[in-house]
Amino acid sequence: MSDMHIASSALRKATKVVFFTGAGISAESGIPTFRDQLTGLWEKYDPQRLETAAAFRENPALVWGWYLWRRQQVSQAKPNAAHFAAPRLASTGRQVAVVTQNIDDLHERAGSEDVVHLHGSLAQPKCFACHRSAELTPEQTTVSDEVALVEPPRCKRCNGRLRPGVVWFKEDLPVGAWKAAMNVIKDCEVLISVGTSGVVMPAADIPEIALAFGATVIHVNLMDVSLGGTNELMLIGKAAEVLSTLLSTISTP
Ligand code: APR
Repeated sequence: MSDMHIASSALRKATKVVFFTGAGISAESGIPTFRDQLTGLWEKYDPQRLETAAAFRENPALVWGWYLWRRQQVSQAKPNAAHFAAPRLASTGRQVAVVTQNIDDLHERAGSEDVVHLHGSLAQPKCFACHRSAELTPEQTTVSDEVALVEPPRCKRCNGRLRPGVVWFKEDLPVGAWKAAMNVIKDCEVLISVGTSGVVMPAADIPEIALAFGATVIHVNLMDVSLGGTNELMLIGKAAEVLSTLLSTISTP
């Protein structure tokens, strides 16, 4: 039997399912993944070197400009069939949770509720100094495609610089996010891990944790990212196509 058949049969029987997602799920919405080569204005930058507190301290306008550009990209993007798979599965009466490493809001815009954002969110900036969350005006979120450097706005309370409300390398996950993720992962029968390279800790451990708690893990990726476990299935292909196929197999009698 193919992995698609086995995945389909595991999903049919499951009542509790978790989607665990990474940048690959938003690739077909036009948002570049982290390990993709960037184009245009950001071609010469390595995203991983812009995502640290040290980079922000050294050049706040560059890091703020980078996140504004990403925020703009997300606001112009639309959720794709892979994002819609989660609410579609929930509509069959199953308990479906979404745990994402992504800082975009495409899961929410596809109709998923209570999405756990392990790496924070682009939409919730906070003060670099006093950590209070802040709102941006529409003018402050607009960025020109020609401009990389944008001075971050200041905190209304302490005049510190605002920073994106995302988790940078070496930073802790948002309070409660890991716990919320573990609660659903320990309890699920199937975990569908979509579009993640599985290299950034601690999120990268999630498929193994699900396996250890007895779940079947279905990986959906352009390449084989399975760990070799007996309860693991590998569906290779684009997330939107693979998930649409998988869901169509469970909705037919
Ligand atoms: N369909 C399925 N998988 C895809 C698709 C697609 N259309 N396009 C790309 N992929 C896969 C790639 O093969 C890769 O395994 O998605 C994965 C994307 O990997 P990364 O770019 O490393 O993204 P992610 O795993 O989410 O990164 C984790 O790294 O920089 C940090 O905090 C950032 O949350 C991010 C974390």
